[in-house]
Amino acid sequence: MPRLNHSPRPGASLTVLGIETSCDETAAAVVRISQGAPTEVLSSVVLSQIDEHAPFGGVVPEIAARAHVQTIGSVVTKALRDAEVGAAELDGVAATAGPGLVGGVMVGLSFAKGLCLALDLPLVAVNHLEGHAVSARLSEDAPYPFLLLLVSGGHCQLLEVAGIGAYRRLGSTIDDAAGEAFDKIGGALGLAYPAGPALERLAAGGNPARFPLPRALLGRAGCDFSFSGLKTAAARIAESLASDAERRDLAAAAQSAIARQLADRTARAVDIYLLSHTPEQRRLVVAGGVAANGVVRAALQDLATSRGFTFLAPPLAYCTDNGAMIALAGAERLAVGLIDDLDVVARPRWPLDAEAARLAPTHLPGRKGAKA
Ligand code: KG4
Ligand code: ZN
Repeated sequence: MPRLNHSPRPGASLTVLGIETSCDETAAAVVRISQGAPTEVLSSVVLSQIDEHAPFGGVVPEIAARAHVQTIGSVVTKALRDAEVGAAELDGVAATAGPGLVGGVMVGLSFAKGLCLALDLPLVAVNHLEGHAVSARLSEDAPYPFLLLLVSGGHCQLLEVAGIGAYRRLGSTIDDAAGEAFDKIGGALGLAYPAGPALERLAAGGNPARFPLPRALLGRAGCDFSFSGLKTAAARIAESLASDAERRDLAAAAQSAIARQLADRTARAVDIYLLSHTPEQRRLVVAGGVAANGVVRAALQDLATSRGFTFLAPPLAYCTDNGAMIALAGAERLAVGLIDDLDVVARPRWPLDAEAARLAPTHLPGRKGAKA
C-alpha cells in the first residue's frame, strides 16, 4: 500500500525518473512537473526487445526478464544523461510494479529500489495501467476528470478517471485485448509480431466489406468487450486466402471490426459518464498501443465530435510502453505525498479499480489474455 509520508508539495516543481520493464520494452525517462506549467519530458529512452521475441511469435517471459537485466543500467544512465539531470536533482524514482510479466517487473522495480537506497530518494511503485491513464497528460492539456479508453496488447478497458489513483471501471474485455486481436490476426496473415502496425499498413486501400466478420456485443447493454470470436473467424479465413488483394481486404475488415466495437462500447461509456459529469468535463482520452491505429483514432474522434467531447490521444511514442508515462504517474503521486516502502512487491495482476475487479472478475489466474 502506498503511504503518505511527507506533506504534499504544491507549487514546487518535481523531477522524477521513471522505469518501465513490464513487457518487452526496457524504458526510462525523466519528467518534470511544475504547478501551472506544461509537463516537461526531459528524456525518454525506449529499448525494444522485439527482435529477440519475434522468432517465437510473442513475448517469452524468460527472454524478456534476462534482456531487461542486461540493458536496464545503460537505459537508465542514458535517460539521466539525455535529460542533463544529476542524481541530486531528482525528487524521486518511479517504477512499474505491475501488472505485467513478473520477472521483468522485478528487474525494473529492484533497480529502482537500489537507486532509492543509494541516493536516499522516495520510491513510487506505479501501476502500469495508471501510466497509460496519464500518458495523454505528457503532451496535452488533459485535466481531470476524463473518460479513458485504455487499449493495448494486454488490456482493454473503459474507465472514469477522477484524478491520480481515482478510477472507476465501466467495462473491460471478457476475453482478449484489442491489441492481442490485432497481433493474432496479423500473425495469421503472415505478419511478424507485434503485428498491429503492419496490419494497419496492409489494410490501407483494402475493402473492409469483402469479408463479413462477427459483430460481437454491438448494440448490447454495458461497456464490456469481446474479441476472441472475431479473432478466430478472421484467422480461419486467413488460412484460405490466395491473393495479396484478399489479404489486404481481410486486414481492412478486421481493423474496421475492431475499431467499430471499440467505438460502440465507448459510446455506451459516454452515456454513463455523462450521468455524473458536467458538459465542461466532456473529455475522451484514448491510450495504449492500439491508440496508435489511425482507423481506431478516427472512429473515436467521430464519436467524440458527435457527443460534444474533446478527443485527446497521446502522440504515437507515448501510446506504446514508455518510461515517461511511469515518471509522470510517479510525479503526480509524489505531488500529493504518496510514496511506497522499499519492500513493495511486484504484482503480475493489479487492477486499477480493485472493487470492480472483485465484483466482476473477467480474468481468472492462469488464463491467457488481459493482465487485469
Ligand atoms: O501499450 P503497448 O505498447 O503494450 C502493452 O501494454 O500491451 O501495446 C502494444 C500493442 C500490441 O498489441 C501492438 O500490436 C498494438 O499495441 N499496436 C497497434 C498499432 N501499434 C501498436 N495495433 C494496431 N495498430 C497500430 N498501429
Ligand atoms: Zn502498456
